[in-house]
Parts: sequence; structure tokens; C-alpha cells
Amino acid sequence: MEIKKLIQLACQARQLAYVPYSKFKVGAAVVTEDNNIYTGCNIENAAYSPSICAERTAIFKAISEGESKIKLIVVVGSSDFTFPCGVCRQVIKEFATKECRIIVANNEIEYKIFTLDELLPYSFGPEDLRR
Ligand code: THU
Repeated sequence: MEIKKLIQLACQARQLAYVPYSKFKVGAAVVTEDNNIYTGCNIENAAYSPSICAERTAIFKAISEGESKIKLIVVVGSSDFTFPCGVCRQVIKEFATKECRIIVANNEIEYKIFTLDELLPYSFGPEDLRR
């Protein structure tokens, strides 16, 4: 699927964000290794810490449906370019394919593409435990 369409899906998911506290809406779309697509939004909580980011909502939806790897994740936030938080970068690490790309978009035309190594250098992942 083309990047523009994925950005549109992330924007649609963003509209469903539950953000009464931050008012900062984020949407995400992930493409799995099997080319299935899952979307997610951020969902906040009155107790704050149970809140979850859009990226993790989308990834956990995919994993809980039986997917095992993600090859692309698109993030659309409320600031100019909204980057995944540190926790989400670590969760992406857990399920990313080697070729995984992270796309940060502020609209359908303007977006930036990153590798996970660029966003999370010197990382620790599942393969480190198997050594
Ligand atoms: N947030 C995301 O959902 N993804 C990001 O990439 C950055 C931050 C959420 C968490 C919280 O609900 C709100 O944005 C403000 O931090």
C-alpha cells in the first residue's frame, strides 16, 4: 500500500484518540510482514500512567491478532512532526523486521522516513537475550 494511503489511515485513527488530558491526538498505522494493516490512537486515563500511545495501540492490536513482525509504522501527531516516545521505540524494537521503517508525517505530502537504528541506537532487543 502506498505511503499516502497509510498516512490517511493514521489520520483517521487519530480522530478517535481519547485525549481529555493532553488534548494531543496521535494516530498510527502499522503494516505487518504479511501485509496486513492495523491502526491505533492514543488513549489516556484519569490516573495518567495507564495511558497508551497510538503506536503501541496499533502494534498490540496486530500482535494480539496473531501477527508477529511489523515492517512499517506511520505516525501522525499534533505537533509539526511527532516522533514516537522512548517506550514506543522499544516496543517497535521488539516486533520490527530488520528492514522496518518508521514514517513520521505531518500531512499526506510531508513526511520523514527513519530506520529504527536511527531512532533507537545501541538498542537492546529480543536477539540479545538469545546470545
Ligand atoms: N503520544 C503518542 O500517542 N505517540 C507519540 O508518538 C507521542 C506521544 C501521546 C501520549 C499522550 O497521550 C499524548 O500523546 C501527549 O503526550
